[in-house]
Amino acid sequence: MKIVMGSDHAGLSLKKQIISHLEEQGHEVVDVGTNDGSSVDYPDFGLKVAEEVSTGNYDRGIVICGTGIGISIAANKVKGIRCAMVSDTFSAEMARAHNNANMIGFGERVVGLGLATKIVDVFLKTEFEGGRHERRVNIIKEIEDKNFK
Ligand code: RB5
Repeated sequence: MKIVMGSDHAGLSLKKQIISHLEEQGHEVVDVGTNDGSSVDYPDFGLKVAEEVSTGNYDRGIVICGTGIGISIAANKVKGIRCAMVSDTFSAEMARAHNNANMIGFGERVVGLGLATKIVDVFLKTEFEGGRHERRVNIIKEIEDKNFK
């Protein structure tokens, strides 16, 4: 799978470890930054990842900041992005199965490497269930059409 990842300084260490894990599994991963520990603004990196996913350049996006909250909020401002901020594997599974999420976000200050790895694995392997969930995701798309330029 083609995956794009981004983080701010507070998510940098966990991002690098997740990238190693995904590459070991044979995924193609691109990192849009940040790449050093100096303080940066998380919306810039949420936006970069979201744009790559919304344009179809990548199958999935993963964003990490201190909590996962800010960078996920920023990503969700891009049309076509459904970025679920998750801190557990059940939510990661449901984000795909029910919400057809194309991105997840989580926080390096919230989840450890072991849990983050399982969250990512579940997110990448779970298929969207469609059916009644498709109708609901389509309603989200209608909301986007009304409210995005
Ligand atoms: C940075 O200190 C922190 O605010 C950021 O990583 C994130 O947690 C924001 O939501």
